[in-house]
Amino acid sequence: MQEPRRGHEKETAEAAGATDTDNAADFGTFAELDKLVEAGIPAADVAKLRSAGIHTVQGISMQCHKDLVAIKGLSEAKVDKICETARKIAPSGFISAKESMARRLKVTRITTGCAAFDTLLGGGIESMSITEAFGEFRTGKTQIAHTLCVTAQLPRSMGGGNGKVAFIDTESTFRPERIRPIAERFGLDPEATLENIIVARAFTHEHQCQLLAAVAAKLAEDQFSLIVIDSITALFRVDFSGRGELAERQQKLGKMLSNLIKMAEEYNVAVYITNQVVSDPGGGSMFVADPKKPVGGHIMAHASTTRLSLRKGRGEQRIAKIYDSPNLPEVECVFAITEGGICEAKE
Ligand code: GTP
Ligand code: MG
Repeated sequence: MQEPRRGHEKETAEAAGATDTDNAADFGTFAELDKLVEAGIPAADVAKLRSAGIHTVQGISMQCHKDLVAIKGLSEAKVDKICETARKIAPSGFISAKESMARRLKVTRITTGCAAFDTLLGGGIESMSITEAFGEFRTGKTQIAHTLCVTAQLPRSMGGGNGKVAFIDTESTFRPERIRPIAERFGLDPEATLENIIVARAFTHEHQCQLLAAVAAKLAEDQFSLIVIDSITALFRVDFSGRGELAERQQKLGKMLSNLIKMAEEYNVAVYITNQVVSDPGGGSMFVADPKKPVGGHIMAHASTTRLSLRKGRGEQRIAKIYDSPNLPEVECVFAITEGGICEAKE
């Protein structure tokens, strides 16, 4: 990877008038846990934090006190000391709106491979936030994921994220052989491209959670630009059935989504998740014959910054519509699925 993450951030931060000292507590500029050891926290306690999936100093402030105390071997007193030290190393609190603007400038965008689709998204899929795609089967959710696995590795000058990719596959639909033609289309070496994608198959929602914690460890070690979970909800739907388990399902799903958002902000990576749809007989108007809504209810709606509703068009064509975004209008675009991944739809 040519441009190191921190180098790039400094460049954009400076462009926004930020000074070097601003960088310490920045999103995406994380302090390694070893800083705690330097500040006097026993290495054994730091190891316990790591084993609980916390890999940066900022990551500590993102956990509830009760979750930290629940880590095996950490007493209340130890947790207090760790939190106090973490706050000194990476203060988190109010910043001015101007600084907030400088942080927003660090947000990067990854191209979908289709200019019209990128325009719809305001330039591509955004880092530090979650982009969710939902739609019926064969609408292109997984094909978009495969394309992003490649474009996430492109240099920034080509609309890429210049980083590695972590892919959590819950439906066994990741196909490494699909990566090759997509990499070739973008002029990347297929072998190196495959090397830069780490993939894990999740079998239960608990396993999915463990894998996500493992991804956090990887993010702290190496330069990643994208996390994919395809699909985020499938295992939750299998593992929790019926109304009686709905509350627990939603609570667990919410916890996972909240971890995902924290990871996205902490490491300035983009998160692309896919979701299924279910019939919504009560929610449709008389003008929609078979209304479909994404799984996950309000929890999902709150967590995803950008929601994309996908549907089939003619042949290879698919239509993407912005479903729910704080800063994008509800418009749609047409894209095509080809061997080389997502691209412009031919008229
Ligand atoms: P589910 O996971 O089943 O809900 O569907 P999905 O939305 O993930 O669909 P997916 O992204 O897997 O899209 C499948 C569509 O992509 C099918 O219509 C395939 O024909 C098409 N597709 C997959 N690979 C290729 C390819 O190499 N060339 C072309 N032209 N189409 C492809
Ligand atoms: Mg799929």
